[in-house]
Amino acid sequence: MKIPLADLVAQYHTIQSDIDAAIRSVLESGHFILGPHVKAFEREVAAYLGVQNGVGVASGTDALILALRALGIGPGDEVIVPDYTFLATASAVLHVGASPVLVDVDPDTCCIDVAAVAANITSRTRAVMPVHLFGQPADMSPLMELAVAHRLTVIEDNAQALGALYGGRRTAAIGHVGCLSFFPSKNLGGYGDGGMVVTDDAELADRVRMLRTHGWRQKYDPEALGYNSRLDEMQAAILRVKLRHIDTWNAERGRRARQYAQAFAGTSVRTPVERPGSTHVHHLYVVRIAERAALERALEERGIATAVYYPRPLHATRLFRSLAAGRSFPVSAALSEELLAIPLYPEMSDEQQDTVVSAICEAALARS
Ligand SMILES: Cc1ncc(COP(=O)(O)O)c(C=O)c1O
Repeated sequence: MKIPLADLVAQYHTIQSDIDAAIRSVLESGHFILGPHVKAFEREVAAYLGVQNGVGVASGTDALILALRALGIGPGDEVIVPDYTFLATASAVLHVGASPVLVDVDPDTCCIDVAAVAANITSRTRAVMPVHLFGQPADMSPLMELAVAHRLTVIEDNAQALGALYGGRRTAAIGHVGCLSFFPSKNLGGYGDGGMVVTDDAELADRVRMLRTHGWRQKYDPEALGYNSRLDEMQAAILRVKLRHIDTWNAERGRRARQYAQAFAGTSVRTPVERPGSTHVHHLYVVRIAERAALERALEERGIATAVYYPRPLHATRLFRSLAAGRSFPVSAALSEELLAIPLYPEMSDEQQDTVVSAICEAALARS
C-alpha cells in the first residue's frame, strides 16, 4: 500500500456533489472575476476568524506583499521574520523594497523566538511577521506586548494554520493583519492558487482592495502602483464549500496527531508540542529525529511518503544568506537537519495510519 503525505483527490470525493454544483454555478453565472462568491467568501472567512474585513487575493504570497504595501512598508524599513519558514514570508519583504531581518526560532514550537525578536529591534523596525508554522500558533501574547511597546505592526503569516486557536482566538485575527493561503494542500485549499488579507482595520483593507485591482478605486484612474491580484471567483465558490468542513477536518487532524504522539512515546521520534492554551491544526505532521536520513529511507522502502520542510533555513539560501552574514541560527540549523513530515490528512484510514506507525516504530526502535 502506497501512503501519500496528503490525498486531495480523496477529499474531493467526500464533497464531490457540492463542489461540482459550486463550479457549475460559476460557469452558468458568467461572472468570473470579483463576483458574488468572492464577496460572500470574504465575509464568511472574516466571520469565521472573528475579524471585520477579508480581502481575497491571488495567493498567500500576494497577501503578504499587499499587506506590506498597504501598510506603507518599503525601502529603509526592517521587518523581523523567522529564519525557519517557507521563503515567501521573507521574499514578500524584499518585494516591497524593505529588509527582512532573520531571527531564530523556538526549539519546541519551531515558531519565531520572541526573545530573538526583542534583541533585533532597531529604530528602523516597522513590523514583525510571526509564522504559525505547520499549524502551530506562535507565542502571540508576549509578541503583541513587545509590538505595542515598540509600536510595531504584527503581520501574521497564517498560511499554514487556518482554524488554529491561541488563547481562545483564531490565529490571523490576533495581530494587526493576517495573511492566508489557499494553496491546494493547505488546511483550506482551493483547486488552484488563492489567498486573503484579513484585518479589523477598515482603511487598511480598503488599501489592499485598491492595490489588488491595478491600484485604482475608480476604474482607469490608478492612485498607486497596483497589481492584478484577485481571488478567482471559481476558487471562491469551491472554498465556500470547503470552509463548511474546516473544523471537522482540523479535528480529525488533531485526533490522528494524538494517536501518533501516543504511538511514538518512548521511541527516538519526537512529536510536535501541544501547548496549553493553543490548538495546533497540524497542517503538516512533522516529527524530529536525529537519524532522519535512515528513517526517510526506511519509510520510502515501504511506500510511505515523507518530506523535509525545510531542507535549508532561509539564512542558508542563496537569496537570503547575505542578510544573515556573521550571525548564527543554531535552532533553525538543527531543525533543518532533523525534521521530517509524515503522512497526516483527514481522509487517512486507520489502516494507513497503523502502517505508518508500525514502520516508524520498527525503524526508530531498531536504532534507539
Ligand atoms: C508559511 C507560508 N507563507 C506563505 C506561503 C505562500 O502562500 P502561497 O503558496 O499561497 O503563495 C506559504 C505557502 O505556500 C507558506 O507555507
